[in-house]
Amino acid sequence: MLVTNDTIAFEKYHLYPTKGLLNDPNGLVFFKGQYHVFYQWNPKACDHKYKEWGHFISDDLKTWRRVESALKPSLENLDSAGIYSGAAFVKDDRLYVFYTGNVRDAAGHSVKSSQMWAVSDDGIHFEKLGELFPHPAGFTKDVRDPMVWQGDNGHYFLILGAQHDNQVGDIIIYESVDFKNWTFKGSLLGDQLRDVRGYMLECPGLITVDGKQILMFSPQGLAPDHVHHRYENIHNTGYVIGTFDETTARFQVETDFEEVDQGFEFYAPQTMNAPDGRRIMWGWAGMMTPEREAAVPTIATADWVHVLTVPRALHVTADNHLVQQPIQEILAPTVLDIQSLDHLTVGQYRVQTDADWSVALGDHATLKRVGQTLYFERQQWEDHRLDTRQMTGNLDELLLIVDNDVIEVYTEDGLQVMTGRYF
Ligand code: FRU
Repeated sequence: MLVTNDTIAFEKYHLYPTKGLLNDPNGLVFFKGQYHVFYQWNPKACDHKYKEWGHFISDDLKTWRRVESALKPSLENLDSAGIYSGAAFVKDDRLYVFYTGNVRDAAGHSVKSSQMWAVSDDGIHFEKLGELFPHPAGFTKDVRDPMVWQGDNGHYFLILGAQHDNQVGDIIIYESVDFKNWTFKGSLLGDQLRDVRGYMLECPGLITVDGKQILMFSPQGLAPDHVHHRYENIHNTGYVIGTFDETTARFQVETDFEEVDQGFEFYAPQTMNAPDGRRIMWGWAGMMTPEREAAVPTIATADWVHVLTVPRALHVTADNHLVQQPIQEILAPTVLDIQSLDHLTVGQYRVQTDADWSVALGDHATLKRVGQTLYFERQQWEDHRLDTRQMTGNLDELLLIVDNDVIEVYTEDGLQVMTGRYF
């Protein structure tokens, strides 16, 4: 079993909630010999009105134990309606987590966000340390999702997704020399990337992979580009590569903004630094319109909704493209002769052919290869409309991770990935 202490396995390869709604992975960390995956969780209902940090622990990245929520709302006027997304940072043998506290008014509207932190010595029990700094001027209440790292100069940096008062998304940055007092340094991006910030930008992450600095983020409200098959989901996640200047606290962007995943639902990823040096990413699968989310069939059948992606090891090519591959620990694929198959069933498969093929996925979706393009066609479950996502590249060697109602398709070179639910 993927989650060893669950009585019913809802998925074989993907982490899921036993009830309620799961969204973003949070605070991914290796701490004192164990891997921790926290996640946005509403155990009370399949909606977004309330969030805790749900918690999985693993010794080997293969099987997981579901444990008590690590953080729950408790602080009046600070985090009373939600422990929103954030990240982990280990310092002096202690696990610090940074998160956004959400507050709602009597009518249920989000009215305030506060940047918070908490600390743990065992990775399980956390002591809240309160608010980090006051809300920055010039921004709406939509400032959230802290991520922290230590620079080569020893200073600490904290970035946040933010919305300017004029409804434009941005990433803002704070700096600290003592890990306690934070100075606002303004926009991480300055004037760059104006066209891909959306009206709000969520879950920024700045990481180093193969010696290159990758800035990933999830802008909201980009106009879909159906010609180039970009930004076709309601909200999307992408990355740029560049250089972070510690003295100015600015990120110099050196590439175009590329989407991380070509499928239907990938959103709000975070990464973990594994002790062997790997950067491992989990995403949320995930992001969909409120109508589609409310109609996800698992809500009616078993009162839960959404999954995380499988963990993906990251690399960057010499010409600055992100490479994603499921980590070795979870892989046990068999070779599949896909041309002779009608229906895909749960399993992990290697597909090695240069021919065209087409297979059904459940009753309302099809995966098919035509030339150098792979199509994922799906009848949307909320309105039965046919919709397609596609990826183009070297499709002669593929890896398919097929779960009960979610599939991830990887090209073996890891340059293209497509994730989507199917029902
Ligand atoms: C992204 C997000 C984050 C926020 C969290 C709330 O999906 O909206 O920006 O912190 O989810 O659950």
